Parts: sequence; C-alpha cells; structure tokens
Amino acid sequence: MKIMSKEEQRLSLQSDLDAQKSISDRRKFGQFATPTELANEVVSFGLDILNSNTVRFLDPALGTGSFFSALTNHADSTIIEKATGIEIDSHYAIPAQELWRNTVLDIAIGDFTVLPPKRKFNFVICNPPYVRHHLIEDKERIKTRTKQFSGVELSGLAGLYCHFLLQSIAWMENDGIAGWLIPSEFMDVNYGSMVKSFLLNNVELLQIHRYDPNDVQFDDALVSSAVVWFRNRKPKGNPSVKFTYGGRLSAPNIVRLVPVSELQKESKWTRFPLQTVRTHNESSAVLGDFFLVKRGIATGNNNFFILEKDKIREFDLPHEVFRPVLPNSRNLPSDEILADDSGNPLLSRELFLLDCKLPEHEVKMRYPTLWDYLLKGKESVAKGYLCQSRKCWYYQEQREAPLFICTYMGRERNESGTSFRFILNHSTATVTNCYLALYPKGIMKEFLKRYPHELQNVWGIMNRVDSQSFIDEGRVYGGGLRKVEPKELMRVPVPEMDSLIRSNRGDVSFKTDKAIQLNMFG
Ligand SMILES: C[S@@+](CC[C@H](N)C(=O)[O-])C[C@H]1O[C@@H](n2cnc3c(N)ncnc32)[C@H](O)[C@@H]1O
Repeated sequence: MKIMSKEEQRLSLQSDLDAQKSISDRRKFGQFATPTELANEVVSFGLDILNSNTVRFLDPALGTGSFFSALTNHADSTIIEKATGIEIDSHYAIPAQELWRNTVLDIAIGDFTVLPPKRKFNFVICNPPYVRHHLIEDKERIKTRTKQFSGVELSGLAGLYCHFLLQSIAWMENDGIAGWLIPSEFMDVNYGSMVKSFLLNNVELLQIHRYDPNDVQFDDALVSSAVVWFRNRKPKGNPSVKFTYGGRLSAPNIVRLVPVSELQKESKWTRFPLQTVRTHNESSAVLGDFFLVKRGIATGNNNFFILEKDKIREFDLPHEVFRPVLPNSRNLPSDEILADDSGNPLLSRELFLLDCKLPEHEVKMRYPTLWDYLLKGKESVAKGYLCQSRKCWYYQEQREAPLFICTYMGRERNESGTSFRFILNHSTATVTNCYLALYPKGIMKEFLKRYPHELQNVWGIMNRVDSQSFIDEGRVYGGGLRKVEPKELMRVPVPEMDSLIRSNRGDVSFKTDKAIQLNMFG
C-alpha cells in the first residue's frame, strides 16, 4: 500500500472537512484553502526573501496548515525554530492538531483578532479570511485593535483581511518578512487607501504580485488575488516597489519597478505594472460633467418585489402601487427601449416593481389583496438585511426613470470591444442595481431640451467610449469580471461630448471657460 505524504494526508483531510460544511458556513469565516501549488510557490518565494538560517513561522489563519506543509517542504526542519498557527474554527483546528502532532507546529485555537501577541515571528505567511465588512461581527472592537497595533484607522468598509494584515505587525520581529495572499481589491477601492499608505510609510513594501484574473487561483472562491510582500522595518527612502503580473511569483509575465512617488499619486494600483500613472487632462470632459450616475434600486428581494403582469393579475393586486422596471440586460432585445403611450416599455417581458409608500395599517384597510401578498413575505423577505434596515420593510428607494442606463459588469468584451453598454430608455421604467442609471444634469439637461434631435448623437458618443477608459476607472475581479462604480463611471472621459455641444453653440468649450459654460444657455 502506498504511504501518503503529509501533504496528501492534509489535502484529504481538508476536503473531508470542507465537505462537512455548507458553502454559506464556509463563507462566513472565509474558509477557502490555498491550493498546494500556490502555497508552495508563496512559501519558497518568501524563504528566498527572508534569506535566514532560522525561521520563526506564523500563519494567523491556519486552516489545516497548507503553508506550514509547504514550509516543511522547502525548509530543512533544523532551521524551523518555531511555528505557530492560529485557527478560530475547531472543526479545522482539532483535526489539524492531530495531523501535525509530533511536529514543531503549535496550533492555537482562537480568534487572531483577540489573542494577545505574546511572541514574535520573522516569517508571517497568510491567506486571511476574506469576509466582507458587513459580515464582520464585532467590527468596532476589531477596528480599535487595528488602530492600537498599527496606528491605522481603517474605514468601516474594509474587509477582515485588511485588519488581519495590519494587526499582524504586532506579531512580527523587526526585519521579519510577511507575505499576504489577499484580494487585489484593496489596491483600487477607497477603503484600501489606508492599507496602501501603511505599506508605503510604515513598512518596507518589497513587491506586489498580481495573478492574472483569467487564471483564477482558487476553485471555490472567485477572487482576483495578489501577494503582498513587505519587511517589518521603516522604509529607508526606497525609490521604487516591484510590481509583477501574471505567470508565477518567481516567473512573472510582466515586471516593473514603480517609483514610490507614482504610488503616492495614483489611487488605482492595479494599473501597475501594465500601465503607468493616469495623466488627467483637466480640460477633457468626463461623463460626470453631463450626467449624475446612481446605482439602480436594491429591492431587497427581486423575486418578491418584482412581478410579471400576469402575477399582478393572478393575485388581484392594485396597479397603482406598481411601476414598470426593466428586466436584466440579457432580456433586452435591443439597446433602445421604446415605450407605449403611457410610458410602459415595449417589451415582451413586462415587469413591475412593488413600490407602495403606504404604512401597513393603511394597506390592510385599503388593499386587502396586497396585504395578503405582503404577509407572504413578512417572515422571510422582511427579515433580510436591506428590508430590515428600512423604516417600513417594503418601502423602496426612489429612482426616477433614467434616460441612459449602463450595464456595469461584464466578463467578455462584446463585438464593439467593450464589456459595458449604454442603453437608451424612452420609457418610464426604473432599473434595479444590475444597472447604473444616468440622469442628464446641468449643461446636458439644457442641451437636450434645446436640441432633442441630438439625443442619438449623445448616445452614440457614449457607446464609442473605448473599453480602456472603463478599465482605467473601473476594477477587475476574479475570472476577468469587470465592474465600474457610479463615481468611477462619472470619471470616464468623453471629449467628443464637448465637441458635440460646441458644434451646436459655436466655438465654445464649456470646460475651458466656466463663465461661458454658465451662460451658454442663458
Ligand atoms: C482563507 S482560509 C486559509 C486557510 C489556510 N491557511 C490555507 O491557506 O489553506 C482562512 C482561515 O482562517 C480562519 N479564520 C477566520 N477567521 C479567523 C479569525 N478571526 N482568527 C483565526 N482564524 C480565522 C478560517 O476558519 C479559515 O480556516
């Protein structure tokens, strides 16, 4: 009989333990193990940077110990002076203790954000739990501890992995090396700015490697991953940081040394190493000069609040509490939504949003059938996160029907080379949060009022925005999924729009002359 190696035993244990839990339970604690090959790559790369004949190893989120296993693979046992793993969930921690019995690994069952940092380590390797901010229990306590350990006050929107990274500093020896396998999201989003400033100012940031999002590293958690390497010592005025992309850590496809001065200026670090700092041409018009962009309505439960016409009839619900809403873009036959005389979209699939502003006692009195329908959701839908946070659980956000709609997520590029589309909406239908809603404002509102025949040209310009502009402003997730947020969409340049307006109004550039801009339609 073939004797299983320790790593084979660990893998088999990992898959048994994973199988005993539901995916939603595993998500709660970010329980997605690092594949063997990736763990080996990270550890052997880190050992090269550490370049020491004694290793004091810490994994603050151990799981079953994929990184420790890789360590035993790449470092002679005589140099591993001590090794500690912390794991909150005894479901993984107890079998791991059994597996690693008789080795140097000491497993503490507990919460990394609670245990006091009594010992220090020179080699911290971690794939921390990826738990989004709204699911972090005890957020205020964790924030306070992060501040106490690192001096950094993280935004309430930061995921748990940011707190792990910052708190780990209290467990590190001076000159110790840390390698963090984390989602690359922090490199672009607002809540990541404090993490980036910590990496630039408090420690010596050595390298950030980003895996190609099309080459998803994890089978079961779709994240676009990066490995951040730093040394625990004050930066000594290093001129640059190594940014690498694609391929493997030790053999990346692209390498660039990015000057720290550029990193300080640029808020989107995922530009590196593929591109350089964005050069903002202040005189170039951006979508936000013409449109207010808002995310569509988050209903709290589309299945409950959005009904087909037949269903409204079947339940005999009052029409006056419904308003038309567009189906998702896959169900739109064309990018131009035409409307009937009452403003309803001319679509084969007619959907309506339950948008009732009456309190419960009035609904009960005036609309008994609607009351019966609401009762169906009272024990389930009403208990959802969003519904619970409302004054009355079925009150919807108010969003006018937008003139333009943008599909803001896309994986593949379509034939026109972009994963984003603009839809022209002539109807009174509103949209849900699978779209971004664009409302003409200021100069554009006036322009369209005066020159309604230019509507198609305005739309044409929007659809000609090149995909790189979206990519520059937006973000990329695992599997190559691209996304753009309302504020990011407002920063997308549309120089042609300026020319269109000028061509109707003579040679007037509203951007270059604010005074003319204000008086242009006066
Ligand atoms: C992404 S997994 C990584 C596991 C393992 N190190 C690996 O790479 O395969 C994160 C682990 O952290 C554990 N965890 C979650 N919250 C924790 C906490 N507050 N303290 C310690 N461990 C935690 C989870 O149970 C999970 O096993």
